[in-house]
Amino acid sequence: MDGGQGKMIVVSNAEPYKHESRDDGKTVCKEVEGGLTTAMNPQMRETGGVWIAYGRGDRDAEVVNSEGEVSVPDFPDVPEDKRYTLKRLDFSPERYDKFYRGYANRVLWPIFHSFPSKADLEREGEYWAEGYLPCNREYARAVVEAYEPGDTVWVHDYHLALVPKLVRDEVPDAKIGVFWHIPWPPWENFGKVPHRRRILEGLAAADLMGLHLEKYANNLLRCAGGCGARFDLDSNSFKLGEEEIQVEAYPLGVDFEFFNETETDGEELDIRKMYKDKKLVLGVDRQDYTKGIPERIRAFKKFLRKNPTYQEKIAMVQRTPTSRTEISEYQKEKNEINRGVSEFNGNFGNHDWTPISLFWQGIPQKKLIAEYRAADVGLVTPGLDGMNLVSKEFIAANEEPKVLILSEFAGSSEQLDEAIHVNPYDSDQVAGAIKKAIEMPEGEKKERWEELRRKVKTEDLSSWAENFLGDLDRAHRLHSMAEFAPFAQEAGEKQVMRRN
Ligand code: UDP
Ligand code: G6P
Repeated sequence: MDGGQGKMIVVSNAEPYKHESRDDGKTVCKEVEGGLTTAMNPQMRETGGVWIAYGRGDRDAEVVNSEGEVSVPDFPDVPEDKRYTLKRLDFSPERYDKFYRGYANRVLWPIFHSFPSKADLEREGEYWAEGYLPCNREYARAVVEAYEPGDTVWVHDYHLALVPKLVRDEVPDAKIGVFWHIPWPPWENFGKVPHRRRILEGLAAADLMGLHLEKYANNLLRCAGGCGARFDLDSNSFKLGEEEIQVEAYPLGVDFEFFNETETDGEELDIRKMYKDKKLVLGVDRQDYTKGIPERIRAFKKFLRKNPTYQEKIAMVQRTPTSRTEISEYQKEKNEINRGVSEFNGNFGNHDWTPISLFWQGIPQKKLIAEYRAADVGLVTPGLDGMNLVSKEFIAANEEPKVLILSEFAGSSEQLDEAIHVNPYDSDQVAGAIKKAIEMPEGEKKERWEELRRKVKTEDLSSWAENFLGDLDRAHRLHSMAEFAPFAQEAGEKQVMRRN
């Protein structure tokens, strides 16, 4: 994938596997849920290399060597040549708290998802100095230690914006790409971050930065302009200080084959039986205030109020693995969801019918595929989501036509035109979409579904990675030859680095 010149070094905060001790004393390896890890894991299993991440409390497990490394996945059925090295970093709890819960998830996450009122900007400076900067330095140091000439360094997401510059300072000719898995907000939001310029300087040292959508890339370019950079919306590049970077859109896809072909041994039929063959509406979201779960519950209530004939004929399954549980905004939302669901079931349900089944546990993707297949309707209604892989996985897992209701604020809605698009905050509209979905004529359902599957199959995970890495190679070559200089040219002759 990288031309065979060197190894791949992936760096992200989240790790793809965790090791947990069971009651019988045995250690088990488990996949970690989340868009970033589920996307990059199949890639790494294909290319091999080193993945540097934070070890969530399992760095001390006997499985890692003295360098904090373990070969993953260490499932018995996976041969050594299908594994890669996971290097787990360790931070003091105080430092990690200020880095992950503080700067990453109480400053950047809410600001970048346009929830500025949930951001703790008052402590931004403290989170920066005592968490974000030192942890980014540690990540960069680990990259530099692992680096050998010819390697590709692929940095992921908002936790690590400073890593490209910190690595570049040590290895000036390294090939460095960044992929940003969350939206990039307009200047009115980004501009509120006190260390905004330092964040952009950190990123600008990469050769190429990818975001899911063109509109996020444009927001980033304008924000760079707001921080004094020269930027150009035609050549998709900006120059800040001495660093010039290319910024492009690469909508992340899913491993279509895996979701399409994985055998579930008929588990979906057992699930349907459990819900007495009622119409099943499925929501799958990591618990997060960006996912619109309370609003979804309100819309479902409206649907049942407006369509009482559907009482006892429909059930909603909401699978919501908890996340970032130490952050108060997440705790508040969890309580709100719990309250909403129990009031709902109390008001509408009876001993034969539970309208909403809520699960806080995450399950492995193989099990999730059975839930995708058991459902009639996928209900994906985030308030804002960079991409949203669940919407694509639901399509890939179901050969049989289903209906997808999709928020117009999920990044995937730009590709998935044939879903029923909704404004998640308009509960009347979402309620109407649920009715439309369950009453959709078979012909229309099939037609929409085939088109959705065609897109998810073509614009899949491997084409995403190939496009990004191909462009990264080119951008790096141009940088190395000092030929990437869009701002050095005459106006009207801007240099554009594009795939042909
Ligand atoms: N996921 C999982 N088990 C669960 C719930 C979710 O493995 O019980 C995975 C799901 O398959 C998807 C990812 O978690 O790949 C969620 O990605 P998405 O982009 O939808 O949202 P994010 O969590 O990244 O915000
Ligand atoms: C989103 C972010 C990822 C993150 C994931 C899970 O997908 O873009 O960077 O890993 O959520 O969140 P967590 O905080 O549990 O790693």
